[in-house]
Amino acid sequence: MGARISGIAAGVVVFLPGWEPPRLARGARRAGRVDVMELVDFEDDPARLRSTFALFPSGVAALSAVVEGRPTVLVASSFQVGISADPPLVLFAVQRTSRSWPVLRRAGRIGVSVLGEVHDAAARQLASRADDRFRGIPTTTLPNGAHFVQGAPVWFDTSVHGEFPAGDHDVVLLRVHALGTDPGAEPLVFQSSTFRSLVPRQPVA
Ligand SMILES: Cc1cc2nc3c(=O)[nH]c(=O)nc-3n(C[C@H](O)[C@H](O)[C@H](O)COP(=O)(O)O)c2cc1C
Repeated sequence: MGARISGIAAGVVVFLPGWEPPRLARGARRAGRVDVMELVDFEDDPARLRSTFALFPSGVAALSAVVEGRPTVLVASSFQVGISADPPLVLFAVQRTSRSWPVLRRAGRIGVSVLGEVHDAAARQLASRADDRFRGIPTTTLPNGAHFVQGAPVWFDTSVHGEFPAGDHDVVLLRVHALGTDPGAEPLVFQSSTFRSLVPRQPVA
């Protein structure tokens, strides 16, 4: 039987009488970890929300195009695939305060490079406010203006399909027109404000 939450008092979840922590959770206590799921009220603590969101592991994408002769880039860990196969759609969320997005969104095509584990320094540089964010980073530009970081495990040639307000961000749907992959390149992982590499465990059958 699952636990039923009856209310939140003093920031701690109150469970209905008779509920017991599941076995797995009691085991976790022995390992020195949190044993019973505790839910906290974060309304007065936005840093808690951000640091909790940051625990979610994601890839890192560089979205880029040459706009009016100048390469423009936005690094996004909110990038997601698998949104739709027909039509082929991917998405990312962009902060309303972004200075790059109003320029980049004018491009007919936007190159998406899913960054590789070799790109941790490049990711920082591309996300900075440096004048030349691409300095020393090898790139490829398509005739349609889509701009890519070399050495990435995955590329998508995309155009803006739709844009929707989402609180302090906008969610942007991108339609995929062409794609490329390099199975030999490992992706960069971002979690808890840290760039990481994937460690293979067991393949899912
Ligand atoms: C690892 C990483 C992930 C990021 N993910 C996002 C994101 O998903 N959405 C976003 O709007 N900004 C994201 N940023 C911030 C932007 O890359 C960029 O630094 C920010 O938009 C400020 O630059 P701008 O004003 O030129 O856009 C991320 C930065 C880093 C380093």
